[in-house]
Amino acid sequence: MTKRIAVIPGDGIGPEVVSQGVKVLKKLEEISDLDFEFKEFPLGAEHYLKTGELVTDEVKEELANFDAIYLGAVGDPRVEPGVLEHGILLDLRFSFDQYINLRPIRLYDSRFTPLKDKSPADIDMMIVRENTEGLYSGVGGFLKKDTEDEVATQEMVNTYKGVERVTRYAYEYAKNQSQEQKLTLCDKSNVLTYAHDLWQRVFVELGKEYKSVDQDHMLVDAMTMKLVRNPEDFDVVVTCNMFGDIITDLGAEIQGGMGLAVSGNINPEGVSMFEPVHGSAPDIAGENKANPLAAVLAASMMVEILGYSKEAAKVEKAVKLSLQNDQTTPDMGGSLTTDQVGDHLCSLLE
Ligand code: NAD
Ligand code: IPM
Ligand code: MN
Repeated sequence: MTKRIAVIPGDGIGPEVVSQGVKVLKKLEEISDLDFEFKEFPLGAEHYLKTGELVTDEVKEELANFDAIYLGAVGDPRVEPGVLEHGILLDLRFSFDQYINLRPIRLYDSRFTPLKDKSPADIDMMIVRENTEGLYSGVGGFLKKDTEDEVATQEMVNTYKGVERVTRYAYEYAKNQSQEQKLTLCDKSNVLTYAHDLWQRVFVELGKEYKSVDQDHMLVDAMTMKLVRNPEDFDVVVTCNMFGDIITDLGAEIQGGMGLAVSGNINPEGVSMFEPVHGSAPDIAGENKANPLAAVLAASMMVEILGYSKEAAKVEKAVKLSLQNDQTTPDMGGSLTTDQVGDHLCSLLE
């Protein structure tokens, strides 16, 4: 059956890496029964500067008819920080109620971690980040702005329903893995005594339904230390929006860098959106040297969540091979261009 994919290349290196992902998906069509229909949406800085539009209601209505959204990145030095990030990326995550943010941290080859003596078996975990609430809710404001008495607030909104659904998803995820898994709740319950007290209670309450899942707790500051020192201690981690954002950049580095980190914004009953964790990287945009592997792995996660695990595994295997053979961009020590890495992956899929 044809799967309809909305493609939003976005800004900076977004179009460069997304085109490699689409190239790989087209190759996958040739070698399997998969069939995609792509439609590109020119959302991003260019469109915004020309029209003043971010994502209109009409565009959202159209996107609702797709099986998935595949996004590069947004953000541009010509536009005030936050405008495109809120107006496009967060608006899509919130509008489509993509309440789960799945961020795997997986080392493919020992040579690429900066951690001494750690192997792929040590660095293999899934961060389940809450994706629609917390400090990202946009609640808050300024009092006496631009005076010496100014007060700026940004509320951390945690609803029982929001915390319950992401925690349940994480428990289910841990339970359904082939090997026994531990679920770690990462919070700051020693300071955020309201917000993260709720997380604690929900974690314990749901834990009674998931006795087969080992349960652990870690404060976020200790978590950053542990991720570096003992990444092998983690299987599945559930955490709030802000902490999930921060620890996954750290996670990206221990698995080989931002060029490899993947993000799936999931609505289990609706339209999900897949993207690299990295941003639009204006410092290297237009140079054909951005690492496309994160975008390609995001495409592979999309294929898997659409129900085609066998095909997704083929893409992941090709990525692993390209890393092992040093067929990579300069950030990973290779000398290929962005396009060449995409072509190489396609040749491995033949
Ligand atoms: P960034 O991820 O764009 O870049 C951080 C550093 O990593 C840069 O030095 C960049 O060159 C490097 N890098 C990132 N991706 C790379 C890749 N694929 N290959 C090789 N090197 C790569 O983060 P930033 O510089 O903080 O943000 C730039 C812009 O992107 C900002 O406007 C920010 O808001 C936006 N942003 C967007 C998203 C998104 O759309 N999902 C995510 C993060 C940041
Ligand atoms: C990410 C990004 C976004 C986030 C920004 C650009 C809104 O950093 O996807 O990790 O904070 O979620
Ligand atoms: Mn981030």
